[in-house]
Amino acid sequence: MACTFFSHAVPEVVECHGERFRLFLDAATIQRRVAELGQEISRDYAGKRPILIGVLNGAFVFLADLIRAITIDCEVDFLKLSSYGAEKVSSGQVYELKKIDADIRNRHVLVVEDIVDTGLSMQFMLERLKAHEPASLATVALLHKAEATRVEVPLDYVGFRIPNQFVIGYGLDYGQLARNFSSIYVLEN
Ligand code: IMP
Repeated sequence: MACTFFSHAVPEVVECHGERFRLFLDAATIQRRVAELGQEISRDYAGKRPILIGVLNGAFVFLADLIRAITIDCEVDFLKLSSYGAEKVSSGQVYELKKIDADIRNRHVLVVEDIVDTGLSMQFMLERLKAHEPASLATVALLHKAEATRVEVPLDYVGFRIPNQFVIGYGLDYGQLARNFSSIYVLEN
């Protein structure tokens, strides 16, 4: 197995592709914050039927929990961008691998990202989506590595601001593994 848990319940340490990661945000802490974000969005978008656009692959776990914390009518769509591949640092290159299907002209759009690191992916998406002339365009990021940001992007809803360290779990992968972890783990130095 390329990912190993060293204990049961919520393990303190996991190994993934031969590297050790320690517990950073446990599942209960993540769920509490996602519930708060859902409440805020429900309040801010009451009567607006927003469309949430999840960025594949990483955001699908967060988006799945977030929409169940939203108590107003909302729709969902996805787009897919190139990711880190098997690396732990951003290549700085962003490619669109799947476009959205929905017509977002005059719609209230919320882009949902698992993590904003350099900000290049979010900047790329916002430019693309603006061209469709939505009624409004806002951003949601579960995690924000503020120190790593190379381009300033407006972040309207942020779950947790985190240091510039590599994290996995809750949708975030290392070499395609660890997306299925309920908690988030950080690389041990
Ligand atoms: P950015 O374009 O540098 O902001 O990076 C955004 C994308 O990089 C995210 O959607 C993730 O797919 C990936 N990413 C950034 N930081 C991490 C990390 O710490 N772990 C896993 N993936 C990451």
